[in-house]
Amino acid sequence: MVKRDAFGTPLSPSATKVMLLGSGELGKEVIIALQRLGVETIAVDRYPNAPGHQVAHRAHVINMADGDALFKLVEQEQPHIIVPEIEAIATDKLIEIERAEMARVIPTARAAQLTMNREGIRCLAADTFGLPTSSYFFADNMDQLRTGIEAHIGYPCIVKPVMSSSGKGQSKINKAEDVETAWHTAASGSRIDQGRVIAESFIQFDYEITLLTVRAINARGEVETFFCEPIGHIQVNGDYVESWQPQPMSSRALQHAQNIAKTITEDLGGLGIFGVELFVKDDQVWFSEVSPRPHDTGMVTLCSQVQNEFELHVRAILGLPVDTTLHMPGASAVVYGQLEARGIAYTGVNEALQVPQSALRLFGKPESYEHRRMGVALANGRDSAQARERAKLVASRIKPVSN
Ligand SMILES: Nc1ncnc2c1ncn2[C@@H]1O[C@H](COP(=O)(O)OP(=O)(O)O)[C@@H](O)[C@H]1O
Ligand SMILES: [Mg+2]
Repeated sequence: MVKRDAFGTPLSPSATKVMLLGSGELGKEVIIALQRLGVETIAVDRYPNAPGHQVAHRAHVINMADGDALFKLVEQEQPHIIVPEIEAIATDKLIEIERAEMARVIPTARAAQLTMNREGIRCLAADTFGLPTSSYFFADNMDQLRTGIEAHIGYPCIVKPVMSSSGKGQSKINKAEDVETAWHTAASGSRIDQGRVIAESFIQFDYEITLLTVRAINARGEVETFFCEPIGHIQVNGDYVESWQPQPMSSRALQHAQNIAKTITEDLGGLGIFGVELFVKDDQVWFSEVSPRPHDTGMVTLCSQVQNEFELHVRAILGLPVDTTLHMPGASAVVYGQLEARGIAYTGVNEALQVPQSALRLFGKPESYEHRRMGVALANGRDSAQARERAKLVASRIKPVSN
């Protein structure tokens, strides 16, 4: 176990060692934050030269859903702390590792397991805690799906594989004739072909937010829940394209949102940051899902907060104090690959950064696809609206070209 009051020297016997399971753009920023505190970092991903691999002390390529491969690597590297960055991990192995006290799993192995499957987290939120959610049910075949929609939720509704992320395999459907396509879309977009889907009533929200919620040790040495300012975002086909902070909310809606986030994160337990996704209409708030790790829409905090979501995660898991204060209104806009090629180049960076109060992250992903997230534009402004305009302008000026 890592002693809270001692920080070692990397690559020496005193090192504090942290292993990232998943080393994409979010993992890369977590690793950079760890590096700044002299923590030894081990980046794991399913392909070579992933963004986090490029900034860590050591890099490994394994299939993290393969329990034996995962276990072997943990035995070999002996990290003090394991930080899941993605959902597709052999979480039963994480439970074993945690139980054997081989390493601390962030925030807990149970949280990683519950949130990797929509069924686990939805049942916990709605059934155990009675939190408001869309109406929903689960189906194992097309007939169950069709009859379930008619009996329980009606149209329009959303069908999703129980195991998927970034909108993969999701469809919004309006009528019974669409059920078949939605079923097949879900089967092809599922991470593990489980043939099980969740169908949810469609919520006509005014806006949706990510409420970054941090469980960290306070000055009295107790675990306390801290909230960041709400982050507004826009999703296209279930994938985030733009986010901003703060998202203005009525004080009642904010209170509901914080209560929901506190309830669910307290149950998941452990230390670290959580991205709690919520839908809001007037003063009404629905719980959608939660990820026990930094959130993609939270990349805006790279420019908008005193401590960004990655530093907050790192501080929380190392038992250090956190500060969730907003620094300045900010926004992020995704830079897509726009073409299919390896080793692409980015033109227009100079022009892009002429936009006032702007910044850019290029993730360094070795391979580009049209809709792959390759970078993110960031900007501040006098308010979220101005920051959004600026961030979008920055993103629009970046032109990927194949080499
Ligand atoms: N029940 C719903 N009603 C309205 N919109 C929804 C609903 N479920 C999902 N969405 C929209 O789809 C997006 C992605 O859904 P989500 O469940 O968060 O999937 P993922 O796990 O892939 O992020 C949400 O952020 C929201 O914009
Ligand atoms: Mg989501």
